[in-house]
Amino acid sequence: MARVVVVSGGGTGIGYAVAEAFAGEGEQVVLTGRRAEVLDRAAERLRAAHPGAPAPVALAADLSDPAGAGLVAAGIGERWERVDVLVNSAGGNAALGAPAGRTDGLAGAAWHWQENFRANTLTAVLLTEALKERLAAPGGRVLLIGSIAAYRGSGSGSYGAAKAALHPYAYDLSAELGPRGITVNVIAPGYVADTGFFRGALSPEREKTLVEQADTRRAGRPSDVAETARWLASPGAGHLTAQIIQVNGGAEHGR
Ligand SMILES: NC(=O)c1ccc[n+]([C@@H]2O[C@H](COP(=O)([O-])OP(=O)(O)OC[C@H]3O[C@@H](n4cnc5c(N)ncnc54)[C@H](OP(=O)(O)O)[C@@H]3O)[C@@H](O)[C@H]2O)c1
Repeated sequence: MARVVVVSGGGTGIGYAVAEAFAGEGEQVVLTGRRAEVLDRAAERLRAAHPGAPAPVALAADLSDPAGAGLVAAGIGERWERVDVLVNSAGGNAALGAPAGRTDGLAGAAWHWQENFRANTLTAVLLTEALKERLAAPGGRVLLIGSIAAYRGSGSGSYGAAKAALHPYAYDLSAELGPRGITVNVIAPGYVADTGFFRGALSPEREKTLVEQADTRRAGRPSDVAETARWLASPGAGHLTAQIIQVNGGAEHGR
């Protein structure tokens, strides 16, 4: 029977690549994010590329809002009794694309810290809390997409801090769910190209620097993260939990 794999941020970038990896294995993929039209297009693309898998389902909601996370959980509950794999990829750096004036003064600092907390911490925590009682036991998997920024900062501090908050959440959740045979891990990517993350604002010079920071001398690909997620969700990874897996070509140590 196909596993039910829920991917937040599944309409674009890393989340889409994760959804594609699981659809390619014939799993039932559920995509969630805020923009319904983006999700519908992604679901259609996956359906066309993987006709052997159950048709992907798209559920749009703002996951930083308890009502939005609850709506997605209800939509899933109407269709399936259990969730096998939950991949929390929704997020982004609020500093990229911030409205003019939002960076100024104390009000600007408050905006950045709150927005990054909402986008990166709350989206993951609320969807996970909404679904955790339905996780397959044993065998369920929770993955949280963190970031290299949790280790080395992100300019203003707030994005990296919001991602770092996922580490203790993963530890505590692993302790809570481990006895039920469910694992919880964070995947922390370094620079990954070809996603919506930089909103077209990454300069060639900055990209060159990011690539040179990696021992592999290349940008990360969404598929690098997706393949890691696929393996962590496999039966063979059943004793690996409460870990932060860095997928960055060695960039973290060589800052
Ligand atoms: N690309 C990188 O270099 C990199 C490096 C390290 C970590 N990451 C992390 O990897 C994850 C995926 O990012 P990406 O690079 O694939 O960028 P992306 O293409 O912009 O993906 C982010 C996704 O999150 C969704 N999202 C954002 N806020 C949301 C909310 N409040 N509720 C529901 N969905 C929300 C977005 O969809 P909507 O806008 O439609 O909601 C979008 O599909 C993020 O958590 C990011 O922080 C990325």
